[in-house]
Amino acid sequence: MTDKIRIGLIGAGGIAGAHVEGYLRNTDKVVFAAVADPVRANAEARRGEDTSVQIFDDYRTMIAEAELDAVDICLPHHLHAEAIIAAAEAGLHVLCEKPLCMTMDEAAAIAEVADRTGVTIMCAHNQLFLPTVAEAKRLIEDGAFGRVYEVRTTDSFHNGFTPESMGWRAHASTAGGGELIDTGYHPVYLLQHLAGAVPTEVTAMLSRHRLEFMEGEDSAQVLVRYDNGVVGVVTTSWAYDAAPGTEKFSLVGELGSMSSDGVTLTYRLRGQDPVTISFEGVHDIAAEVSHFAECLIEGKRPLHTHVEGIDVLGVILAAYESDRTRAFAPVQRITAASAVV
Ligand SMILES: NC(=O)c1ccc[n+]([C@@H]2O[C@H](COP(=O)([O-])OP(=O)(O)OC[C@H]3O[C@@H](n4cnc5c(N)ncnc54)[C@H](O)[C@@H]3O)[C@@H](O)[C@H]2O)c1
Repeated sequence: MTDKIRIGLIGAGGIAGAHVEGYLRNTDKVVFAAVADPVRANAEARRGEDTSVQIFDDYRTMIAEAELDAVDICLPHHLHAEAIIAAAEAGLHVLCEKPLCMTMDEAAAIAEVADRTGVTIMCAHNQLFLPTVAEAKRLIEDGAFGRVYEVRTTDSFHNGFTPESMGWRAHASTAGGGELIDTGYHPVYLLQHLAGAVPTEVTAMLSRHRLEFMEGEDSAQVLVRYDNGVVGVVTTSWAYDAAPGTEKFSLVGELGSMSSDGVTLTYRLRGQDPVTISFEGVHDIAAEVSHFAECLIEGKRPLHTHVEGIDVLGVILAAYESDRTRAFAPVQRITAASAVV
């Protein structure tokens, strides 16, 4: 691998702006080499003044013609799997926005191509790069809380979507579901990271409280059991803001507990006074881009590859199943390339 990663951006819409900012903050290890989007104005806007960035209408042409080490996929959800597979087949590493893909069959195809080609597929799970999350993970791994019993995560906000502005997100065929597989993906991967284990079963209640024009849910409450005994709770919504004081994440273990609003972290070990740490704000997507490039340059495994991404998807699909059947749903996993269990 070279000392700088040449990235081709696929999809130049809303979130791509933060990704480009991520490249520009990491010019020591990243070159923004090309961008592909059928909407030329979007590609031009993301390229900005830098005319050395090549523009393509079709990402398949970009993959074939541009000189790249990796692609960064910022597409609507139904296009993720196809783009990941096309890039991997061409030997390019992949950074992919959430969700990794929409179905377990797509997940199996991604696992198969990853195993066969050996490319790195990193899930763009940006909230893992918040300093509060990194510190929480360090404390858990140091054993500060002993055995962990419960983890809670929240990602709720009053979303101003209208039927006109909602676009592909309004339809299950292009989004894969509703809010839970979109914004709700963040608190599910955060839960998994803090639980530090494999999800096994799920029960969920989905609601459409306010955004009645969308096909899927606008809110979800999800309970997840992990194979180390941790029970996780996710609350996520586009219908409403979380109540004041609601944690972004919290955890309870045998020796103490912690809670974070995302900017500060407070923990209390039994018999001791609480400790609060405040962190500087970071550009979490720039930190994510930096991690991706560093992993490729140094040959390290990213924090979350497609392996974790598939387990997060498994929780979300099990939540949909649980809501439909009004019962606990097992989490499907990919144990070996292309085998869904
Ligand atoms: N991490 C976060 O906080 C965050 C926030 C928003 C969105 N996202 C994720 O980013 C992804 C994109 O979301 P968005 O809000 O930017 O969507 P968007 O609708 O704003 O942008 C999608 C872009 O993809 C382009 N596109 C469509 N088909 C294409 C194709 N075949 N080839 C190339 N480009 C194509 C569109 O023209 C558009 O420019 C989704 O996976 C979404 O869940 C993540």
